[in-house]
Amino acid sequence: MRDLQGKNAIVTGAASGIGLGIARALAGAGVNIMLADLRPQPLEAARQTVAALGVRAEAVTVDVSDPASVDAAGQAVRDAFGSLHIAVNNAGVAMHGTPIEQVSLEEWAWVMGVNIQGVINGIRTFVPMIRAHGQGGHVVNTGSVSSLFVREGKDQGAYAMTKYAVLALSEALEQETKDAGIGVSVLCPGGVNTAIFDSAATRPERFGGAYRRPSQEAMKTGFAEAALDPLLVGQRVVQAIRDEEFYVLTHTGERDVIGSRLDRIRAAFDRADAIMPSIAGKSGGPTATN
Ligand SMILES: NC(=O)c1ccc[n+]([C@@H]2O[C@H](COP(=O)([O-])OP(=O)(O)OC[C@H]3O[C@@H](n4cnc5c(N)ncnc54)[C@H](O)[C@@H]3O)[C@@H](O)[C@H]2O)c1
Repeated sequence: MRDLQGKNAIVTGAASGIGLGIARALAGAGVNIMLADLRPQPLEAARQTVAALGVRAEAVTVDVSDPASVDAAGQAVRDAFGSLHIAVNNAGVAMHGTPIEQVSLEEWAWVMGVNIQGVINGIRTFVPMIRAHGQGGHVVNTGSVSSLFVREGKDQGAYAMTKYAVLALSEALEQETKDAGIGVSVLCPGGVNTAIFDSAATRPERFGGAYRRPSQEAMKTGFAEAALDPLLVGQRVVQAIRDEEFYVLTHTGERDVIGSRLDRIRAAFDRADAIMPSIAGKSGGPTATN
């Protein structure tokens, strides 16, 4: 999608952080925005910020983990703009600072509900709306650099698991929508200066309600100073939509550690090459190739 002027987008998690950065950057490119978020008050403030950029900006309260709520957000787009070209499934919550053995069942349900089911709900509701007009469009799913590796020492396995899922959903979606002229990007940023470490305060009642996670809040120390401005991430996303990029990276510091992970997988293939013939020989069965 090179020509964004006058197109219509929905951005989830748009009241804050990366979602607001993406909404502002898209508005700067002339895109009308439906800002969607769980929290009505910062959402209205964000809507006003985006409207001041000269595009149509509307707001809808949504819980992305609830399919009916996401359907209602889709209807709000139809009512406001008539059509949808760009869907940004961005709303997400952190689950850092807790080893996976200690993540409670409520926390698992919540982090998967928002970070995975939220993206699934967005795909189910918004992609048919983009398909419907036949002009093509674009879907951005916010993963993380944690879609590409599990950062050691941060006890963020539950979070990384959800972000790996976002990558798999995005790969599948790209394969399934390319014939319809719908591009897909997976946004994989490193540290961005947002309210992500306070996200326990946004846990909906049906997942146990708002609470405190001191082990996660402690990660805020020194984070903002080193983290990227969300508007720069938004501008990177607009570039990626124009250039139809799938992997959208913003930080390069993890290049080597992710490269090592890929090397380990390659080495496992070499090991399988070396060992499977003898195992298959012993069992008398064929060596699998897929
Ligand atoms: N900040 C980072 O360093 C970083 C890095 C990589 C990826 N991300 C990802 O970026 C995305 C945005 O996070 P952020 O850093 O801007 O954090 P943020 O907390 O500033 O913004 C997230 C927004 O999502 C909203 N939200 C939370 N639960 C919701 C729900 N159930 N339904 C609808 N909205 C909901 C919040 O109200 C908030 O406005 C997330 O998917 C996050 O995992 C963040």
